[in-house]
Amino acid sequence: MLYAFIVTAVAGVLLPAHNALTTNMTKNLKVLVSSNDYPSSGLDVLREHFTVVQSPYCNFGEEGANENKAELLKLIPGSSALVWISHHPITKELLDKAGPQLKIVSTASAGYNHCNVPELKARGIKLSNTPNVLSSAVAEIAVGLILGAARRFTENLDQVRRGEWENGFDKVLGQDVRGSTVGIVGLGGIGQATVKRLSGFEVGKFLYTGHREKPEAKALNAEFTSLDNLLEQSDFIVLAVPLTDETRHMINSTTLGKMKKNAILVNVGRGDLVDQEALYEALKNKNIYAAGLDVTTPEPLPKDHKLLTLPNLFVLPHIGSATLRTRSDMAVLASNNVVNALTGKPLITPVLP
Ligand code: DGY
Repeated sequence: MLYAFIVTAVAGVLLPAHNALTTNMTKNLKVLVSSNDYPSSGLDVLREHFTVVQSPYCNFGEEGANENKAELLKLIPGSSALVWISHHPITKELLDKAGPQLKIVSTASAGYNHCNVPELKARGIKLSNTPNVLSSAVAEIAVGLILGAARRFTENLDQVRRGEWENGFDKVLGQDVRGSTVGIVGLGGIGQATVKRLSGFEVGKFLYTGHREKPEAKALNAEFTSLDNLLEQSDFIVLAVPLTDETRHMINSTTLGKMKKNAILVNVGRGDLVDQEALYEALKNKNIYAAGLDVTTPEPLPKDHKLLTLPNLFVLPHIGSATLRTRSDMAVLASNNVVNALTGKPLITPVLP
């Protein structure tokens, strides 16, 4: 008892001192935050330990990104960590400017196709991302896209804006989720969260495909199958896979040709999972019923893009993880990965450990 008391008391005195010592040792390390829209929750974590330099520009949107490019090249020399808030590519030029002390790139996103992984690997720079914390928010958008495409939100909103509501018992009829077969391409965190959210919709059957069967699938009542079988059977097809060389344009004229006439394609992954030219043709010729996209190529999609002329396409401007809580959670996780990397601890969510 006395021993336990002494140990606790000594630890109580020593641990804060130790933490203060660690913090003092890291305070001179420079951490660059790539954009002016990083949540304060993430900045607070970084500022506790490091000297934080933040770009005054926003890294999203073409114009901001261009201004920011030059600014980041100016700010990055001497940085030990780079927190990346953008889907814009991390260039070799930026890494060259950083200098050899750059230990980690921490991207505040689940996807990391923009992070130039081979280059980081070759330079021995760690990479972390922010999976899991955004699964619920992105799954909510997947459900939104399912409903938006199935119930023809684009056409219906257009009617409201024009003030010309169609009358009639058979006006702008859509499709039910109830009784349908929903196929999930990629039953990871987002895919699983989508199935969970849809389970109140009286879906007839959940299918999923991927590299291997997932142990979580049983509890979700989801059946493992091949991509071809999923495409042929599903009324709704949800893409929730990362963009890799293998998945780029996995939806193309051949795979679209395997889908049912009433199929609805939903993409919450990355625009390049889909060959948009082939999707345009399939939607225009009504070879599939509709599509709902949160991601496109490019982003933003130009307002005169021909995809936007299609009444059976429902598009959102990449807002999957865009909730206050989720963006804050992503920032805290991204910052804590930096703390770990620069204090010799393992990354929480490593891509390159
Ligand atoms: C991600 O995290 O990869 C999502 O696209 C949201 O930014």
